Amino acid sequence: MSDWWKKSVVYQIYPRSFMDSNGDGFGDLQGIIRKLDYLENLGIDVIWLSPVYDSPQQDNGYDIRDYRQMYEKFGTMEDMEELIEKAHDRGIKIVMDLVANHTSDEHQWFAESRKSADNPYSNYYIWKDPKDDGSEPNNWGSSFCGSAWTYDQEREQYYLHFYDKKQPDLNWENETVRREVYDLMKFWMDKGVDGWRMDVIASISKYTDFPDYPEEPGRRYYTGFMHSNGPRLHEFLQEMNREALAEYDCMTVGEAPGSTSENARLFVDPKRRELNMIFTFEHMNIDRIPGHVNRKWALKPFDVRDLKRVMSDWQEKLEGHGWNALYLENHDQPRVISRWGNDTCFRKECAKAYATILHGMKGTPYVYQGEEIGMVNASYELDEYEDVEVKNALLELVEHEKTISREAFKRAVWNKSRDNARTPMQWTDGENAGFTCGTPWFKVNPRYKEINVEEALKDRDSVFHYYQKLIRLRHEEDILTEGSYRLLLPEDDSLFVYQREYKGKKWLVAANLTDVPVPGSRLEGILYPGYKAIIQNEPEIMKNGMLQPFEAFIAEEQL
Ligand code: NOJ
Repeated sequence: MSDWWKKSVVYQIYPRSFMDSNGDGFGDLQGIIRKLDYLENLGIDVIWLSPVYDSPQQDNGYDIRDYRQMYEKFGTMEDMEELIEKAHDRGIKIVMDLVANHTSDEHQWFAESRKSADNPYSNYYIWKDPKDDGSEPNNWGSSFCGSAWTYDQEREQYYLHFYDKKQPDLNWENETVRREVYDLMKFWMDKGVDGWRMDVIASISKYTDFPDYPEEPGRRYYTGFMHSNGPRLHEFLQEMNREALAEYDCMTVGEAPGSTSENARLFVDPKRRELNMIFTFEHMNIDRIPGHVNRKWALKPFDVRDLKRVMSDWQEKLEGHGWNALYLENHDQPRVISRWGNDTCFRKECAKAYATILHGMKGTPYVYQGEEIGMVNASYELDEYEDVEVKNALLELVEHEKTISREAFKRAVWNKSRDNARTPMQWTDGENAGFTCGTPWFKVNPRYKEINVEEALKDRDSVFHYYQKLIRLRHEEDILTEGSYRLLLPEDDSLFVYQREYKGKKWLVAANLTDVPVPGSRLEGILYPGYKAIIQNEPEIMKNGMLQPFEAFIAEEQL
């Protein structure tokens, strides 16, 4: 088995928002096929497809009704097979999303399970009797607000759901459930799928004594550490590896909320035979107030020192013990330049600066659709949002509990909502940004006239071409894959600077992550005299002795 994924750059597609081929306003598989040339031109190696399976779409496909069918708006199984084949023809691999912590409540397993406590599917999910007073079995909360338990009239019991009530959690304690999951994985790998992004995989093993969380003032239900890293997690992952993955040359990346640089090794140390990489949330949580009743909507100002600390910690702790998954955006996160940078006067510089920092690190970089053209957050009216997370939070936090005002919530949604990343991909400056000739399922970001692929391809200086170059560097330069990592200037509140080193070669990766110029003297003794520029986002490095707003570059030491 080769480690091909170490030299790869992964591109994430959120299919409903990528490209609509048939005018129904909804992205589809044929739309992706049409854009394979574009992706080949960008230079990426792997596509990670967010779920395309049959689903009622309560959580945009992260609620699967049938793992072996495509959702009809995405297309047919033939379309999927064609996509795999045509991607492979171009040397692009396909990674699917494995959503196996939960299914849809419309999955046939759940329909059977809820019927009685003694049928073959009864134990496929997690059922519990009400407490004596009829209330929920414990105080666990759903990540989408409210209780993690919903009472089912038919079975007269509560079932557990860490997400929406239409997403019941599977019971991984049941060996038959685990077999079902391994079988479906083999079904897809036999079709040529090259790997898995595993949705909330750190949550599959539950604390089966179902203890209450410690009480916190102002809160009725709690989410937290108990939702991940349960006692049998690593046993299950090792079993999955043995039973499903071992025979295939595939890559795996697990979504691991609650993971830390300390416990990460348990997932990714190759000796343990679990996963190749995990997605941590530690750097994504630097701009929220920990433990706040308003959860992710309680904003904390961005401080570049936090970002450096967390990302460098992962670089250092995994050195020699596992491989990093590098990301700043995905379908659950806002656009990074709007979140932590500048998406107006320095939009392009800022997009390139973040790209430089991310792609200069050790690990496999992930590019989320639109990130490569510098797409930005959208600011819509609250009733225009589609995401179940926003809708539930609006009801619970703003309308019922009144812990946040409507205005403050709206501002937080503009900054943090997942829908920021889910607006249709901007292909052209034409109608609906060229995403569809029908009515798009979700409003196109009004800035599509200025930010779109057509424009980016014409402009030699575009964010797209910068990404293209960074991706080429990943393929050509072993220092990026193999080199050591050392953070420099950890206390600097503007600059993100680190050194990579491999076989006597040294690269300095530097970015000013603010919108004000910073004196180049801060790099004194750090920047190699007579360096060679590998990549830069300004025509001249440190013009007039200053790092310009969002200036970034990689410089090589010259001996
Ligand atoms: C993580 C996925 O990325 C997110 O979109 C989804 O809502 C939850 N897991 C539940 O599947």
